[in-house]
Amino acid sequence: MTQIETRQDAEERSTVGGLAFPDRFVWGTATASYQIEGAVAEGGRTPSIWDTFSHTPGKVFQGDTGDIAADHYHRYREDAELMEELGVNSYRFSVSWSRVIPTGVGPLNREGVDFYSRLVDELLGRGITPTVTLYHWDLPQEFQDAGGWTSRDTAYRFADYASALAGVLGDRVSLWTTLNEPWCSAFLGYAAGVHAPGHTSGAEALAAVHHLLLGHGLAIQSLRSALPTSAQLAITLNPAVARPATDSPQDVKAASKVDGLQNRIWWDPLFNARYPDDVREFTAEVTDWSYVRDGDLDIISTPFDVLGVNYYNPVVVAHYAGTGERSQADGHGDGAGETWPGCSDVQFVDLPGRHTAMGWPVDASGLRELLDRLWRAYGKPMFITENGAAYDDEVSADGQIHDVERAQYVHEHLAAIHDAISAGVDVRGYYLWSLLDNFEWAYGYSKRFGIVRVDFDSQKRTVKDSGRFYSRVVRANALPEA
Ligand code: FCB
Repeated sequence: MTQIETRQDAEERSTVGGLAFPDRFVWGTATASYQIEGAVAEGGRTPSIWDTFSHTPGKVFQGDTGDIAADHYHRYREDAELMEELGVNSYRFSVSWSRVIPTGVGPLNREGVDFYSRLVDELLGRGITPTVTLYHWDLPQEFQDAGGWTSRDTAYRFADYASALAGVLGDRVSLWTTLNEPWCSAFLGYAAGVHAPGHTSGAEALAAVHHLLLGHGLAIQSLRSALPTSAQLAITLNPAVARPATDSPQDVKAASKVDGLQNRIWWDPLFNARYPDDVREFTAEVTDWSYVRDGDLDIISTPFDVLGVNYYNPVVVAHYAGTGERSQADGHGDGAGETWPGCSDVQFVDLPGRHTAMGWPVDASGLRELLDRLWRAYGKPMFITENGAAYDDEVSADGQIHDVERAQYVHEHLAAIHDAISAGVDVRGYYLWSLLDNFEWAYGYSKRFGIVRVDFDSQKRTVKDSGRFYSRVVRANALPEA
């Protein structure tokens, strides 16, 4: 095993300052199946909506696809070894539904399951706890052909898939997440058109919200009965920190609409078995919500154990009067459709200051604020299931990647988490997005989030300086002083 920590690192580590994290804090990295695995036609896997979308001309930057990605399907051992070298103690990955159940229905595909089973064993053998996300956006194409998340049936099939997978990995995986960022599945996939399946209908997006939530609730129930009682069940959301541009009532109302569609439309059903009245009202122009049936909200609000929080940046929201150029700095790219149904009077204003290569502002105070709000409102233990940054990395003459800005980004966000924990917020772990450079959805390979560089021609992995920084933090269980 090559040792990532140099002598200089070790010396720095021994002088690490005061920001110690709690004992048993979970230090992880995160990835997702379609973004890293490749091998899309191997081992019996059938296409997902992301295969279809990425192969549709004009949908992904430069026509990039996940066909090969970071070739993790073949290199998972090397990647697990890298994690061990970094010292991380947990790994959050997602399972490709159509790899383990080709076409989405029917018996488990042994070859597909074996891949994840070997991965889990490899991780455990290296002292790394596996955390499974069941759905990170790669819906089997057959379900899309039958309506995708606009169809109620998809929710039931999702619960079947959850229980089948629990039956084979449940003896070794203790933290299970149902959905990753269902807001993106619903609104970027069905309203904005920038994610698979690329639809542009606000009505479809809202039906998708409900069926994703229903699928989550049903999956929690089936996981609960299939897994040992010690299993921890979660959902991962990407809540917005939506700040009004001014304190004018109009801007405050605009920000509250964004809060409604990205936060409360998930939190209220999950925690309080209801949809927010204001959201129902301002979306009435596109949907009548008739897909919500009696009893659904009881299923959706089935208790789960921990909340996964993905955070990248805050947004600033202003009223749009309908004239002049509408500013759209919400960080989700220019779709053909309208990302926010019922929000034609809303616009997004850019924040001054530093931005990542995604154009996303760097502001860790948003994370601090969000953790506080969630903790006070719901008192659920939380994991940060994603946080990280894309930058235009350069390989220096010494062959290394001196990505100072990414390390700085991580440092600032960890300091915000530390501050929240010190104030009594129950945050149990941090999963840095991402272990590897990977297929960044509609941006293809043009945006690099890894703390490990991937040369997509040779598939060579090189730990970046941010990876070394993270490794020091993880090993010290503490953040060096800034
Ligand atoms: C999140 C996604 C993840 C990755 C990061 C940058 O929204 O969950 O797959 O694309 O953004």
